[in-house]
Amino acid sequence: MTNNNTSLPSNHVSEQRLWNLLMDVAAYGATEKGGVNRQALSQEDVAAKTHVSRWAAERGFQCFQDDIGNLFVRREGVEPTLDPVMTGSHLDSQPTGGRFDGAYGVLAGLEVLDALNDANIQTRRPIEVVAWTNEEGSRFSPGAMGSSVFADVRDIGAVLDVTDLSGTVLKDALATTLAAVPVPQRKSGSMTPYCYLEAHIEQGPVLEERKIPIGVVSGIQGIRRLNITVTGEEAHAGTTPRRSRKDAFASTVAIISALEELTADDDDILRFTVGRCDVLPGSPNTVPGRVHFTIDLRHPDNDILRSIGDQIHTRAKEIGAPCHVEVSDISFVAPTKFDQNIMAVIGSAADRLDYSHITMPSGAGHDAMHMSNICRTGMIFIPCLRGISHNETESATAEDLAAGTRVLADTIVHFASQ
Ligand code: GLV
Ligand code: MN
Ligand code: MN
Repeated sequence: MTNNNTSLPSNHVSEQRLWNLLMDVAAYGATEKGGVNRQALSQEDVAAKTHVSRWAAERGFQCFQDDIGNLFVRREGVEPTLDPVMTGSHLDSQPTGGRFDGAYGVLAGLEVLDALNDANIQTRRPIEVVAWTNEEGSRFSPGAMGSSVFADVRDIGAVLDVTDLSGTVLKDALATTLAAVPVPQRKSGSMTPYCYLEAHIEQGPVLEERKIPIGVVSGIQGIRRLNITVTGEEAHAGTTPRRSRKDAFASTVAIISALEELTADDDDILRFTVGRCDVLPGSPNTVPGRVHFTIDLRHPDNDILRSIGDQIHTRAKEIGAPCHVEVSDISFVAPTKFDQNIMAVIGSAADRLDYSHITMPSGAGHDAMHMSNICRTGMIFIPCLRGISHNETESATAEDLAAGTRVLADTIVHFASQ
């Protein structure tokens, strides 16, 4: 249902135009199963960013990228010197990702700019739509990289030498991207947004199960990432007795099973995932000499996240003997709480549009978690099919995608008028 007040930008949001743009961008890195493989700083990522820069040029909007490759589309305000209202998300995907995780937040922002043009609305503040570099962190770790550099949470120098699995160094992939996306460079750190808003699919089952179109996001649980290396001794699989082996993979299995036990909680709140495990040398008839694996640990309570992470450090070393175990922290993002006023404005915008809504936390990480360090920040969730994400079958309806964009449009204009 839409409101009849034609002066509201939400009335000019086009469900079909938004869907067409989402599908156009989903072609970059499209997979046979209907998802996308558009990993950060890949050719496909460059193609999606180039599409956005063309989109901006066709409408006369300025477009910039900064040193880490974040891409900004700017609709000028009546007072161009004021800090802009910023909205966006990311265009990079998981290796077997869906069409909406990230792309929705960027393209919903562009749809809002089209709606404002159609409605002939001039806002006092500029509005900027951003596509953050490397939110997923699946190719280059850690994730939410572009927003963390923008928000000064991380120094760009700390990530330039990170490599992907094939040995490509981030600074080389970044240089290729910066040269290939045809827009001018804007100096990093040259501006701070007035506020930041991000629309995203929920990536969980709550909204769909409750048949509620809008989630007003209250915050994001904390995320701690660890790297573990288990070093044993390579040996012949046929001749080496079990008692004299230092089998790095056997130790890894024991460590992971002990950590599964350590992290199991009755309420199922603590999230523990081993998403990557490389066994070396990877030969069927050699006892593995080395294993690298990652841990992704999440909890809404900072102290619990710290304490369990610290216990993992100790426990992994105890269990891994006789192999040598090294544990290192890759990143720690404390739980985020979003701005109460922004949450209220999102809720009011949904009320005016007759969309039911609930307040809910985010289980997934988002660029908004870093932005909340430098400006007031909020997020809008919409349902996705069976709550499935980080999966090529990820899906959302055109109707829900448009509903979230309408709420985003009215919320943006509320703040851009201040
Ligand atoms: C982002 O996709 C995350 O890891 O939550
Ligand atoms: Mn995302
Ligand atoms: Mn994701």
